[in-house]
Amino acid sequence: MSKTKTAFFCQQCGFESAKWVGKCPSCGQWNTFVEEVVQRAKASPAGDWEPLDGRTVHLDAVEAATQPRLLSPDAELNRVLGGGIVPGSLTLVAGEPGIGKSTLFLQEALHMPVITLYVSGEESLQQIRMRADRLGQQQTQCYLLTETELPAIFREIKKLRPQVLVVDSIQTLQSQYVEAAPGSVSQIRACTAELQRFAKNSQTPVFLIGHITKDGSIAGPKVLEHMVDTVLQFEGDPHYQYRILRTVKNRFGSTSELGIYEMTGTGLREVSNPSELLISEREEPLSGIAIGASMEGMRPLLVETQALVTHSVYGTPQRTVNGFDLRRLQLLLAVLEKRGGFQFGVKDVFLNIAGGLRVEDPSIDLAVISALLSSYEDRAIPSRYSFAGEVGLSGEIRPVNRIAQRIAEADKLGFEKIFIAKMNTKGLDLGQFNLEVVTAGRIDELYAALF
Ligand code: TYD
Ligand code: MG
Repeated sequence: MSKTKTAFFCQQCGFESAKWVGKCPSCGQWNTFVEEVVQRAKASPAGDWEPLDGRTVHLDAVEAATQPRLLSPDAELNRVLGGGIVPGSLTLVAGEPGIGKSTLFLQEALHMPVITLYVSGEESLQQIRMRADRLGQQQTQCYLLTETELPAIFREIKKLRPQVLVVDSIQTLQSQYVEAAPGSVSQIRACTAELQRFAKNSQTPVFLIGHITKDGSIAGPKVLEHMVDTVLQFEGDPHYQYRILRTVKNRFGSTSELGIYEMTGTGLREVSNPSELLISEREEPLSGIAIGASMEGMRPLLVETQALVTHSVYGTPQRTVNGFDLRRLQLLLAVLEKRGGFQFGVKDVFLNIAGGLRVEDPSIDLAVISALLSSYEDRAIPSRYSFAGEVGLSGEIRPVNRIAQRIAEADKLGFEKIFIAKMNTKGLDLGQFNLEVVTAGRIDELYAALF
């Protein structure tokens, strides 16, 4: 007697439960459980293991991978992948709908120097063609397939033998082994597992595009983060033209890498020198603006921080941030209040990182503090000043890593001064720079140096 087995899956994190629950015990989200049909392979009795058949090999006996990485013409993609595409790797590209994932990967597929198959379950051939025309690529080795059934996709792959496969999106795929609807947790898992087998056996790199939403209303690609080799996050503020490709997980490289693109009328353009774009040119300096020399991955990046400090009209002062951590701002304000004696408690504070960028590098603290003080005093900081330093709880300015690289970037862009922590000059040859390096140990020293 066979009975259809079902289980409940959290659409947020993929947690499996035998019965429905309102709140996911794993990720704490409410109302995320959906019933899905599961077919389980017969469990093997405990202790049943295959007899030794010589599958175990000594590490030294394994030949090192000889196949070199495939270099994409897109230098930003190569960088985030850790130096090119690894043969047989499975990469998940996650991002919110409409951010530009399809555009980016159609563009990659069009430019790839090898035969590339772009499988779409979301758009028709005509729509993809229209998009490709906008992207303006003449000669290409890209083939298109609109299909959602995995067996049919594999049949086409056998015929075409592509050297790169792009699947847009994993949420539209359907495997014949699972009865659940496309986009459900069990379907996504099954399809990814099959594609992973394909990638490893054929040494073909596979890119899976996956949608995510902030509220998790779509089964999250989170459930397959552990199955893939690399997770890239494509993000950005849709109101700005900048898009960032960030490495979240990478089995073949560092996770601190970052690629920056600009969305134009004809597709995404690589931004190889982001600092110049993120700083707005201004005739006269305005109060509340300071430039931070931050690092994104291995690249120095000068970003503009903008602060507005106004007298609070309501009892509870407002703190609003864009591209910066709100709690970090509250902490910095508390430091300014307690250690510097500035009355931010009665002020509304708005903080913005220009260009829709999100900065997580703590070295931006010094620029944030300076922008806040500049707006508080309503006195402009000269536009050729830059800052790099972390601010501690007692108001001390702390050293940051790769300071020489940060100074060199500010120098290259023609800055006159950079403010850094006093402790940061150890082993630093200041003679090599044209700009003046100003050091400060505490925020009051910074204030004195600035105003
Ligand atoms: P898309 O790649 O469809 O997003 P996703 O696959 O992540 O859902 O990107 C859609 C957006 O990109 C759309 O709002 C318009 C914009 N876009 C451009 O600005 N220029 C272009 O050349 C293209 C093709 C798209
Ligand atoms: Mg899309």
